[in-house]
Amino acid sequence: MRRYFVGGNWKCNNTIAQTQSLINTVINRLVFDVAKVEVAVAPIFLHVPWVQANIQKNVQVAVQNTSLTKMGAYTGEISVEQVKDFGIPWVILGHSERRQYYGETNEIVGKKTRLALDHQLKVMACVGEKLADRESGQTTQVIQAQLDSIKKELTTEQWANVVVAYEPVWAIGTGRTASPEQAQDVHAFIRGWLKSQIGAQAEQQTRIIYGGSVTEKNALDLIKQKDLDGFLVGGAALKSAFTDIVAAAHSSR
Ligand code: 13P
Repeated sequence: MRRYFVGGNWKCNNTIAQTQSLINTVINRLVFDVAKVEVAVAPIFLHVPWVQANIQKNVQVAVQNTSLTKMGAYTGEISVEQVKDFGIPWVILGHSERRQYYGETNEIVGKKTRLALDHQLKVMACVGEKLADRESGQTTQVIQAQLDSIKKELTTEQWANVVVAYEPVWAIGTGRTASPEQAQDVHAFIRGWLKSQIGAQAEQQTRIIYGGSVTEKNALDLIKQKDLDGFLVGGAALKSAFTDIVAAAHSSR
């Protein structure tokens, strides 16, 4: 049985005081069994040292991006070696906001994923279609192309350290969640792709999590879906709703 995974993507939110408050009042009060659910939160880079020092041990820390390049003369970047050196286990890569606003192509996401895994970071690799893709019947083609670009870079073994996050772009920050059936359809497609392209082990073991307007209200219905192994939460990860979302995953394992 796959262990569920719940990620909190805090994006570019929170002052120092707000992050401290979120840790103290929500994250450090989460009660869950790590054998059932893995929980990770991703603050901005500047807040990571404080978060690492003050977070309860059951919750892991992630970053929201890493550089396409290794350490060196790349002004403004933070590299995989530096993230690993800091003891951070996870990185979110290929988020639609990175693709949309910072020009990250499928090829870049594939290369970043490879670099992170080569440096022993675990990756939440995000895929998802835009509204126009869905409306023109291109959902699976778009997702397949995103996955193919990652596959091109990785060894079969490296998939053991990848969590695939399906985040339909039209559902992110819009309040318009994918229905459980819509999510399940795409998750099943991704699982089928894992089987045919990577192998039976990847099919059975890879967690496929859903992101896009997940709330404490819809989490329970979503998590009942057969191929849905958790969530990547944005807005609701910044408040007490996150407690209920972790609880929803926990109660169904
Ligand atoms: P929302 O939960 O705010 O829709 O964001 C989802 C997301 O982008 C998580 O990475």
